[in-house]
Amino acid sequence: MSAGSKTVNSVAVLGAGVMGTGIAQLLAQHEIAVSLYDVDPAAVDRAVARVSRSLEKRVAEQKMSPEVAQSALSRITPCRTWEDLGAADAVIEAVQEDPKVKAELFKRAEECFGRDIMFASNTTSCSITTIAAMLAQPERVVGMHFFNPPLVMKLVEIMPGLRTDQEWVTAAVELAKRLGKHPVVVRRDSTAGITSRVLGALLNEAVWVLHEGLASVEEIDDALKLGANLPMGPLALIDLIGLDVHLAKTQMLYQKLGDPRYRPCPLLEQMVEAGMLGRKSGRGFHNYG
Ligand SMILES: NC(=O)c1ccc[n+]([C@@H]2O[C@H](COP(=O)([O-])OP(=O)(O)OC[C@H]3O[C@@H](n4cnc5c(N)ncnc54)[C@H](O)[C@@H]3O)[C@@H](O)[C@H]2O)c1
Repeated sequence: MSAGSKTVNSVAVLGAGVMGTGIAQLLAQHEIAVSLYDVDPAAVDRAVARVSRSLEKRVAEQKMSPEVAQSALSRITPCRTWEDLGAADAVIEAVQEDPKVKAELFKRAEECFGRDIMFASNTTSCSITTIAAMLAQPERVVGMHFFNPPLVMKLVEIMPGLRTDQEWVTAAVELAKRLGKHPVVVRRDSTAGITSRVLGALLNEAVWVLHEGLASVEEIDDALKLGANLPMGPLALIDLIGLDVHLAKTQMLYQKLGDPRYRPCPLLEQMVEAGMLGRKSGRGFHNYG
């Protein structure tokens, strides 16, 4: 990938949860070296184990040769500290959906990495302008919103902040294309991009419908699958996203836009408090055993 004279052959992925893991695997499968860091070292171990299992499955299904799988895995370097990260041509953050945490992370990254490398955020609903505001080089911060699971989902929403230089928007578009994705550029910074605005309202409404007792979990998911031709029901989709992640997104949208479409349902808040986070915790709207 080149942006001007810049070429990205290595990426530091910060945050090794659901999305960081998937993004790391996607990059590694496209011959980009990844250094993977998480504040919780156990998350990095889990991520590497998940990538390894996923690659083994591909080999078993004859979608990939054992040699290609092995080289992809070897491109991911698990990192316990910031010092372990070494040099990188770009940073992609996938930590929790909190603008303060993301801003602090990039501030640290500015100390750790050289100038003039892309800082991409996988945020769904934080403003890139806000995340970049305190940085010495806010013009290099751009939203690269991958979808879950990053290996499968075709779209990457590219979201510039108010001060993002076009150069980095182009760089993000080029990287997305190199990863076999379809980039869509959101024209100006708002709270969240296209998909989070539209899907956020839909998913939120599904929880309210459940909360108001109009239908069961299965009935709501079936209705939307069969009636709106969605590939999966909205409640199953929230389970996949993570109830905590979805809650943070709707809270952010509600706070920023003041629009009741995004008012988080108390049921969602209770389920998050109860640790029912969806697939990643084994239980959400559906039970995953
Ligand atoms: N889950 C989805 O379906 C989805 C889809 C698209 C985008 N996103 C966005 O991706 C981001 C990550 O979401 P996720 O679902 O992977 O969350 P997650 O909870 O699975 O993972 C977040 C990880 O970040 C780590 N972390 C927290 N603070 C950190 C720090 N300061 N430094 C390093 N690591 C830190 C946590 O330990 C955790 O492992 C969020 O911004 C979210 O909105 C999520």
